[in-house]
Amino acid sequence: MVVKFLDLKKQYLSIKQEIDSAIFRVIQNSAFIGGDEVLCFEKEFAEFLGEGVKTLGVGNGTDALEIAIESLNLPQGGEVLIPANTFVATAEAVVRNGLKVVFVDCGRDYTLDIGDLESKITPASVAIIAVHLYGQSAKLNEILNLAKKYHLKVIEDCAQSHGATYNGRRVGTFGDVGAFSFYPGKNLGAFGDGGMIVSRDFDCLQRCREIAHHGGLSKYEHRIIGRNSRLDGMQAAILRVKLKYLESWNARRREIAGLYLEGLGDMLDIALPEVKPSCICVWHLFVIRTLKRQTLMEVLRKNGIEYGLHYPLSLPNTPAYAPFVKGIECKNATCWEDEILSLPMGEHLEDKEVQKVIEVLKDTLCG
Ligand SMILES: Cc1ncc(COP(=O)(O)O)c(C=O)c1O
Repeated sequence: MVVKFLDLKKQYLSIKQEIDSAIFRVIQNSAFIGGDEVLCFEKEFAEFLGEGVKTLGVGNGTDALEIAIESLNLPQGGEVLIPANTFVATAEAVVRNGLKVVFVDCGRDYTLDIGDLESKITPASVAIIAVHLYGQSAKLNEILNLAKKYHLKVIEDCAQSHGATYNGRRVGTFGDVGAFSFYPGKNLGAFGDGGMIVSRDFDCLQRCREIAHHGGLSKYEHRIIGRNSRLDGMQAAILRVKLKYLESWNARRREIAGLYLEGLGDMLDIALPEVKPSCICVWHLFVIRTLKRQTLMEVLRKNGIEYGLHYPLSLPNTPAYAPFVKGIECKNATCWEDEILSLPMGEHLEDKEVQKVIEVLKDTLCG
């Protein structure tokens, strides 16, 4: 038995009829860019998030972040505080906007460490990106308080947290602007690239719309220098189908996380992920830490269990971003690079597969 890290084919087969007819509908209507499917998905995703947010479909999650940041008109060269441990896109979006990244260490919940965050705020700071990593919200109360105190903008990177909540409210609805990715492997994934910008500020979203649509709100209007970034009709139609299942898929992820937490709870060699009481985590990834990673990876491989590393290097230690680091340490992020290990996670998993992962890990560590 192979235990898959991700099984998109199984997911497709479970909703095949609906997906096939959605794709057929798009072909029949031939509204490939823009059109009703995109408008409906934007509306349905906004309703899903609640709090009166407005939404704008774009080409992918990286574009969503980049355009969201651009819309805030931050002063060139300003410093944006981001976590050291995140997917590289968070940093790319900052640097590509002519801003500087300042890396902040992560806490035991793998999101921004608040003490380190405040210590790195300077007069040049302009914004914070709260990344809701692995499916769990960052510590938004503290982040929003710091942002208020130091007059900083807050951008939420929700690429890994579709449906996650903080104090009962969905992530993406807290900051000045938020960005989602619909990369196929995400909790809500398209059949290609896709992204969404969300904001409660209508003007901010209109600026995003102009940027993403060649600098204007209508065809051949170019008020500002824009670019092209669009969610296409086919992806929107597919995402509309999948959105109906997101809650139940996330609930299944929580059940699996429960099995791991219970099954591995007494393993001294494993540090389990910590969930804050204020959060409902949607478990995009289930990441453990262990000093015995090399051994565990070999045993998992031998037993046909797929795993991942998120991320093999924290950003300050990558060749691209090392030059941005001026002796500022991110101790946890650096130390945990060699310890983190992502176990299979997703609604595709059967209980018996999760139990197999638990048994293999236990046998190796106890045997
Ligand atoms: C935290 C984070 N931010 C941004 C992105 C970028 O999204 P995309 O791959 O859709 O460009 C991703 C996903 O890959 C991500 O995990």
